[in-house]
This record gives sequence, C-alpha cells and structure tokens, in this order.
Amino acid sequence: MKTLLNDAAARAIRYIETLDQRGVAPTPAAIAALRGFDEPLPEKSSDPAAVLRQLDELGSPATTAMAGRRFFGFVIGGSIPVTLAANWLAGAWDQNAGLGKPTPGVSYLEEISLRWLIELLRLPPGSGGAFVTGATVANFCGLAAARHAVLRRVGWNVEADGLFGAPPITVIVGAEVHPSVTKSLGMLGLGRSRVVKVPVDGQGRLRPDQIPPISGPTILIAQLGNVNTGACDDLAAICARVKPAGAWVHVDGAFGLWAAATRTHAHLIAGVNEADSWATDAHKWLNVPYDCGLAFVRDPHALKAAMAITAEYLPTEGEIRNPSDFTPELSRRARGVEVWTALRTLGREGIATMIEANCAQARRFAAQLAAGGCEILNEVALNQVLVAFGDAEKTKRVIEQVQRDGTCWAGVTVWQGRTAMRISVSSWATTEADIDRSAEAILRVVRATS
Ligand SMILES: Cc1ncc(COP(=O)(O)O)c(C=O)c1O
Repeated sequence: MKTLLNDAAARAIRYIETLDQRGVAPTPAAIAALRGFDEPLPEKSSDPAAVLRQLDELGSPATTAMAGRRFFGFVIGGSIPVTLAANWLAGAWDQNAGLGKPTPGVSYLEEISLRWLIELLRLPPGSGGAFVTGATVANFCGLAAARHAVLRRVGWNVEADGLFGAPPITVIVGAEVHPSVTKSLGMLGLGRSRVVKVPVDGQGRLRPDQIPPISGPTILIAQLGNVNTGACDDLAAICARVKPAGAWVHVDGAFGLWAAATRTHAHLIAGVNEADSWATDAHKWLNVPYDCGLAFVRDPHALKAAMAITAEYLPTEGEIRNPSDFTPELSRRARGVEVWTALRTLGREGIATMIEANCAQARRFAAQLAAGGCEILNEVALNQVLVAFGDAEKTKRVIEQVQRDGTCWAGVTVWQGRTAMRISVSSWATTEADIDRSAEAILRVVRATS
C-alpha cells in the first residue's frame, strides 16, 4: 500500500509541476489515446501499480489544465496546495460525512467552517448552512427552505403534503437568472418557466424599480456575480422593496458572494445580510478541490424542515450537529475538511488578498486587450471580462484558435446579442505575468485571424 500511495503522490506532484510546460487544452493525440481505456470488462484482477500507471499515462494528458495558472474558462478556481493535501488526508480517512455522531471529526470541522464562513461572508450570525456539491445544489437547498417557509406561513406543510392543492407561490427572478436556479425551480416543482422575469440593466443586474407589487407567498431570487459580466444585483434596494411585503429573498452568489471577503469589493454585496438564503461555491473562489458548494439559510429550521431525514437505524442526535439534516444527500464526502484547511491557512487577510488579486488581474487583462484594439463589453467590476474581436464569426474563430494555441483557455458566450470571449480570473495560482502572457497570446491570434 505504501509503495502504491507514494507512487500516486509522485505522479500527482509531477502532473502539477509540469502543468506549465504543456498547453492548457489537451492535444488531439491525448484525446485519441483515451481509447486505450476502452477494453472489455476485465475478467481477472490486475496489478494495482499497473492500473495506476495506465490511469496516469492515459488520463493525465487528456485533462484540461484547470489546476494551472492560465485557465480562464467558466468560473473555475484551482486547488491551493494545502487544500489538495488535506483532500488526500481526508480521502484516507474515508469518512461518510452524512452522520455527525459516527464522524465527529469531520462533522465538527464542517460546523466550525460554517461558523467562520458566515462571519467572513457577512451573513447573519446564527444562520444555518450545508456542504453540498456545488452552487446548483446550494441553490436547490436555499429554494427548498424558501418553499417550506413561505408555505408554512400560510398554513401549508409542503414536505408532508406536496404541492398538489398548495397555495401558489410567486417566483420572481431577473432576466439574467443562472440556469442552475431555473433547474432547481424545476426540481422543486415550482416550474422552470412559471416565473416572473424582471428586466435587467446593461450589466445584467435585476432592476429593483421593475419588480412587480408583492402579494401572497413569494420568493425573489437575486444574484451576486453574473456568470458573464460578474455584475452584482443591488441587494439593499431589492430587499427594501420586497421584504416589507413578506417575500423570501434567495441569493445566488456562486462566486460574487466572495466579494464580501474583500476590502476593495465589499460594497458590491451591500444588503447581503438582509436576504434569507444564499448559495455559493468553495470550489470557485476559495480554491478548494472539486466538488464543494455551500448553502446558507438565515433560519436554520427552514433548511432542516426541508432536508431532515430520520430512521431508526440512523443516529441523528448528538453533541455535534447532524450534517444530513441540512443536505439533500445522506452519504457524502467530508467537504468541510478542505474548506477548514483553506480558511485556517489563509485567514481573512489571505482570502481577501487572493480575491482582490484576481479582480486586479481581470482589470489588467481587459486593459491590455483594449489597448490591443479589442472591444471590452462589460464593466470589469469583479473577475469577469467579456471581449469581442469583431463580428460573431471572427470572435468565434479567435476563441477556437486561442484554445488551440494552448497558452491559455477561455470560452465563448453570447452577451446581450454579442458573441464574446468570456474570461474568468479565479485561480490562486494566476500571476500578473500569466495575464500578460495570455493577453499577448490572444492579441497574436487576433492579428493573425482575418
Ligand atoms: C451565478 C452562478 N450560479 C450557479 C452556478 C452553478 O455552480 P456549480 O457549477 O458549482 O453548480 C454558477 C456556475 O458557474 C454560477 O456562475
């Protein structure tokens, strides 16, 4: 076992150390070589060391260097080395973090991490929280708690009686709502399309003055960090408008909520603590390994009412809170281990510095591309840059060529009718030199593309 684990560690370290010497995207040859995995189901056991070698030799080259310094696609953080190390240790522990009593260590780490995060992200003290796979499921959790609370207020028990015959709930979203919210609404029986859509401004921010009058059970879903522009809704104005009428405000803050942890960008989240529930990701801006999302709810009882599970054989009562009372899953991995490690290592100052650096790098990126004649389509308020290189066809050609070039990686989007390259600077590892090298590579491709 020792030889095998040392071999795995050596291979993993070599992978990370050589990331900078390869293109960010895997080569066509590496992808073609994946066919080496396509064998008949093995009849007999194999040497574990040989299997690990096959995994590394075929699998590693076919990865995209998301752990590297110049991956700017989607919104993807890297893994701070100590969080990867903690992930290895937690893998060895192999704890099923669903139940607090049999897994006191990891459950306690989750409890502490949630408390620290509530403080760091400027959420109301005493809020409840849950570790989930990502912001999609965190949105699901927040909205499940919302569904519980707004129906309970009108005397309906949705967990017991379902939605058949229930009083209707009005769901209000901005026109730029993230599809993970829409999907969550579908999973909760609230309907992907049965929503009131409020117009947004040129950056994608929900316009508070366009919110319709509120009556009856209502959930309003706001956003911190538009997936394209990075723009944050004006939560203070939204809450002032809908909370007096009793609406539940849920915030999709997959990455934008982390502005709360900065000295420079906290103004973007003003009013955050007036909302009722929040979704965010630690695998984005806290830079812990995949997967790790977080749901927070001001009233922990609403989340527990929506999620708790009981059975005679499940020990749920104990001194440490029982995590599966707050999550959709029962069995799951101990995500709090890496989060605790990141918070304990970086501290408030280290986290602020990491996020502020990414925001400054995004501005640097935009300035260099603009100076090179490219059109920046958004206000670079956070870590997102939208850039067009001419018409849609040329912009797509440039993006394809940049991905092929391999110096960096960024994807395509359409923003309010314009096709654009979408750059997201979210990694702890990215340096100013990486931004300069990437901007140069993009401009080189732009000049060579007709
Ligand atoms: C605003 C927003 N909400 C939700 C999500 C979904 O997050 P996840 O992929 O972690 O489920 C994302 C992902 O980028 C996002 O940007």
